[in-house]
Amino acid sequence: MPKPSTTTGGAPVSSDEFSLTVGNDGPILLHDHHLIEQMAAFNREMIPDRQPHAKGSGAFGHFEVTHDVSKYTSAKFLQKGAKTDVVIRFSTVAGEAGSPDTWRDPRGFAVKFYTEEGNFDMVGNNTPVFFVRDPMKFQHFIHSQKRRADNGLRDNDMQWDFWTLNPESAHQVAWLMGDRGIPATWRHMDGFSSHTYMWVNAQGERFWVKYHFKTDQGIKCLTQEQAGELAGSDADYHRRDLFEAIKRGEHPSWTLKMQIMPYEEAKHYRINPFDLTKVWSQKEYPLIEVGKLVLDRNPQDFFAEIEQVAFEPNNFVPGTGLSPDKMLLGRSFAYADAHRARLGVNYKQIPVNAPKCPVHSYTKGGAMRIQNASDPVYAPNTKGGPAADPQRFPENAVWAADGEFVRSAYTLRKDDDDFSQARTLVTQVMDEAARERLVNNVAGHILGGVEEPVLSRVFEYWSNIDEKIGQRIKEAVLSQKK
Ligand code: HEM
Repeated sequence: MPKPSTTTGGAPVSSDEFSLTVGNDGPILLHDHHLIEQMAAFNREMIPDRQPHAKGSGAFGHFEVTHDVSKYTSAKFLQKGAKTDVVIRFSTVAGEAGSPDTWRDPRGFAVKFYTEEGNFDMVGNNTPVFFVRDPMKFQHFIHSQKRRADNGLRDNDMQWDFWTLNPESAHQVAWLMGDRGIPATWRHMDGFSSHTYMWVNAQGERFWVKYHFKTDQGIKCLTQEQAGELAGSDADYHRRDLFEAIKRGEHPSWTLKMQIMPYEEAKHYRINPFDLTKVWSQKEYPLIEVGKLVLDRNPQDFFAEIEQVAFEPNNFVPGTGLSPDKMLLGRSFAYADAHRARLGVNYKQIPVNAPKCPVHSYTKGGAMRIQNASDPVYAPNTKGGPAADPQRFPENAVWAADGEFVRSAYTLRKDDDDFSQARTLVTQVMDEAARERLVNNVAGHILGGVEEPVLSRVFEYWSNIDEKIGQRIKEAVLSQKK
């Protein structure tokens, strides 16, 4: 016998098929609450999409620390042997909730660790760098990648207009236009914090760190042609792949490795180590292994557990912290604000976002609150309410800053420029076959609507990355342009 179906109030209903009417052929009655409730709930099923990263999916799993990194951080979830539950969401950036998974775009790689000291979120991408280095530019950047105001169309001319006017984008654009711009599946790509963060050990010593989640499945990518075909035949190709792999018992995993820079070295490093458009040399700062992230459980309700999951770079725990990266500091405001707008002020009480440790916050009230507040409702108090403990939890993930208020770029260091890391990627990391695909990808993209005066600037942009690549792209475009 199936379970009886009920209203949302739990009362059993007498029909899932027929409305309540006056006789078989008569009018429907307004007091048919069951019918009205169904129609009303349906009208309210949709909530706003995430502004960027609207299309994605995710899964649950755990993170286990396999190596001792206690000399760098006191965070409990990063101590050897610790095992922490996680939820992850992968995504594309520019497309809407129904857009094809295989469009060329960076992929989001957002992980929430439910630690015993509170939630820790690592909201990264599958690329180690980003297009811009000041949060003032982020909104403009995303607008340029999405749709025009007049015809509602995406526009390659607009994308290249933005990129060429912001040459700090060169490194990320070279990455995006290369093979890794379209991963074969989410299982076959790495995840990066991209930003520099801070770790603090039990003695209060500080380190600058970058997180690298290296796929244990190996890197695999799609060609532009394969991706284009899949975009038409299966828009949900990556979402399906992850769900089915986990269902089959093939649990994807990533090995977490860190680049770690002692606090003082940042002052003298040859590039600004907080500039999000740059990577740190792995010869100078080799990867240090920490642990393994495994995904082994699919969501049961995509909406409740994935659409409503809310990541935020400001979720960090003792022993971890932010850095002077201006983008990261901007992000530490933006996400919680987005969640309050999209999900409501009490979004952290939605089960997928709720910490798995006790919460003793003095916040109260607000729409959709489900946890009881308790007295006393103010601090400090003499009534036995929770109290901050600066001895146990010092504010020590901090750094020194000084200067007049200014609106300006980072101070340039010896090796700081916009093109050399992009040049290294194209000329030294890519082999000739990969460079050929890069030229074709860029030329194909340019031929999709880039016109003068942007066109000349695109050729110049690529020539600044590498003279030969610039020339090859120009020839490929001009030979095909009518
Ligand atoms: C999503 C803002 C830079 C990775 C979002 C969302 C906002 C946002 C508002 C939607 C959040 C939501 O509704 O759930 C910003 C701002 C940035 C910035 C203001 C720069 C100042 C970055 C960077 C990365 C990144 C540099 C990667 C290193 C992501 C990811 C998501 C996301 C992975 C999707 C999270 C999810 O799956 O729910 N961003 N972002 N963002 N962002 Fe950013």
